[in-house]
Amino acid sequence: MSENFEVKVDSKSYIPDPAYREQSFLGDYKAVYKEFIQDPDEFWSRMAKEIEWIKPWTKVLEWNHPYARWFTGGTLNITTSCLDRHVKEGRRNKLALIWRGEDGEERVYTYRQLHRDVMRFANALKKIGVQKGDRICFYMPLVPEHIIALLACARIGAIHSIVYAGFGAEALHSRIRDAEAKVVITADVGKRRGKVISLRSIVDDAVRNAPSVEKVIVLCREKCSVELYSEMEEDFYSLLEGVSADCSPEEMDAEEPLFILYTSGTTGMPKGIVHSCGGYATGVHYTAKYLFDLKENDVIWCTADTGWITGHSYIVYGPLSVGATVVITETTPDWPDPGIWWSIIEELGVTLFYTAPTAIRMFMRVGEEWPNKYNLDSLRIIGSVGEPLNPEAFEWYYRVIGKMRCPILDTWWQTETGMHMITTPLGEPMKPGFAGVPIPGIIADVVDEEGNSLPPGQGGLLVIKKPWPSMMRTVYRNDERYKKYWNQIKDYYAAGDLAVKDEDGYFMILGRADDIIIVAGHNLGTAEVESALVEHEAVAEAAVIGVPDEIKGQAVKAFVILVKGYTPSQKLVSELTYHVRMSIGPIAMPAAIEFVDTLPRTRSGKIMRRILKAKEMNMDLGDTSTLEE
Ligand code: WTA
Repeated sequence: MSENFEVKVDSKSYIPDPAYREQSFLGDYKAVYKEFIQDPDEFWSRMAKEIEWIKPWTKVLEWNHPYARWFTGGTLNITTSCLDRHVKEGRRNKLALIWRGEDGEERVYTYRQLHRDVMRFANALKKIGVQKGDRICFYMPLVPEHIIALLACARIGAIHSIVYAGFGAEALHSRIRDAEAKVVITADVGKRRGKVISLRSIVDDAVRNAPSVEKVIVLCREKCSVELYSEMEEDFYSLLEGVSADCSPEEMDAEEPLFILYTSGTTGMPKGIVHSCGGYATGVHYTAKYLFDLKENDVIWCTADTGWITGHSYIVYGPLSVGATVVITETTPDWPDPGIWWSIIEELGVTLFYTAPTAIRMFMRVGEEWPNKYNLDSLRIIGSVGEPLNPEAFEWYYRVIGKMRCPILDTWWQTETGMHMITTPLGEPMKPGFAGVPIPGIIADVVDEEGNSLPPGQGGLLVIKKPWPSMMRTVYRNDERYKKYWNQIKDYYAAGDLAVKDEDGYFMILGRADDIIIVAGHNLGTAEVESALVEHEAVAEAAVIGVPDEIKGQAVKAFVILVKGYTPSQKLVSELTYHVRMSIGPIAMPAAIEFVDTLPRTRSGKIMRRILKAKEMNMDLGDTSTLEE
């Protein structure tokens, strides 16, 4: 982006029932924000004291740009905040987890049961030689065992790296290799739309040529041959036999890593975002309690998968840390019919529902008669994340699901930020199209490329000006990429998003400023998709852009130059689409492939995706001075 641009920002607003603010943990947003500004260390210290520590910290923040150390000297284990304290404090028989399968099967865990099973699995991991600091890769469907194994890693200080089970073998392989995972945990199958999808075969492919992997743990859901065919494999439940259900938490330094989570980058290999134990635990507890306002009797259903940061923070760590009841399901929103999710809300009495704009737009299209069949009175707050919630989708969500009663929390944040950063705190006026304001603890702004603050109505780059506890600490084995976040625009954290503020300081998020495409809320690097295409023998060169899609927000369009001797055909389109599906996964599949003879390039040879995009959308080509003849 070379220039700032004007954006029309006037909009209407909705005022929620004042009772929401009066009864909220946060109280008056503006007053709390002021407290934070007056003494940031005191603010974060107060928040950190709400989780369990083994040893207290001596200093809240040591900031040595771009490196932050939060809660220096403090030690903890996040699982004691998520489990032990609820067992101790009289919530042992409270439901921690409710799981729903596609066929209606239900499994529930109280805090006591979850605590016990986590400790047992933690001991099982130790039994096979897992130690603090080892990387454990997950490729699992959303079943209770997934949550148990993940918390078990945290219990013993092993670093989990969860890979969304919709990714293909190659994407999984590269993540296993980059993290040098010692163990891979998977299941024989996942279930989707009545079909059984083999996961184990994908893992079999992915662990070939991954010398770090010593064991593959398989959760058998079907009658799977437990005579696992290689010596490497272990059966999930057999591992638990004869194992003690008592495992004391590993004492972790606040700054030691809790997990790695890969997210798409603008170039090459996805980035392994590293989160720390103390800062992350503080950030997710704070936001689950003070932004989502989760009370003990709340039932939260975040429809994300654990493979994304949203699942880490608001399925697992945040809600469990505040002692709420968490709903997880393996269901798809429209199978067996588009009423399934609403029926789950009615039946389980979900109070906080958190989903993505893509799902909302899909439901808009199938019609409000589906949600209207069910009683959604239990809902208290409804949330959105992952992409801009456009005003039409906001209005529909507010009216049809929230019944003009539930506040919408449109939360802007990232894998890198660990927790919510911008939203509309309970009680503040809601403006369709605007995510909201920086939460207490966060200083955000819209700036130009030099870092100068832009006035309301001027679109520009979204930055965070000061460190926060749940910020990523580095990119795994690639600190250079980490430094870039803090060195691009002054000494600010560059989020890579475009945004605009209005007169009241509300932020509207306009989309990515770089070569990341967000398809149905999932980040894809253009480079990732291009390199998958180029791997195919027929493809000489490829360029990929995001084009608008009514439901998914954006869809992938690919421009392909063929190798001499190949001719464009529908068959080739199908073949290339299938190839991308197998190597990265269904989310990366191009919606359209166009065969071309040349691609627009800069004089230095870089493909100008901006030009492709402008042409595709019949827009002005903008500055073409660097375009090759
Ligand atoms: C986008 C997901 C508009 C944004 C938590 C960001 C959003 C990227 C919103 C991060 C929102 C996320 N409104 N855009 N409420 N939330 N985004 O790492 O472009 O999967 O940079 O984290 O999603 O995606 P990630």
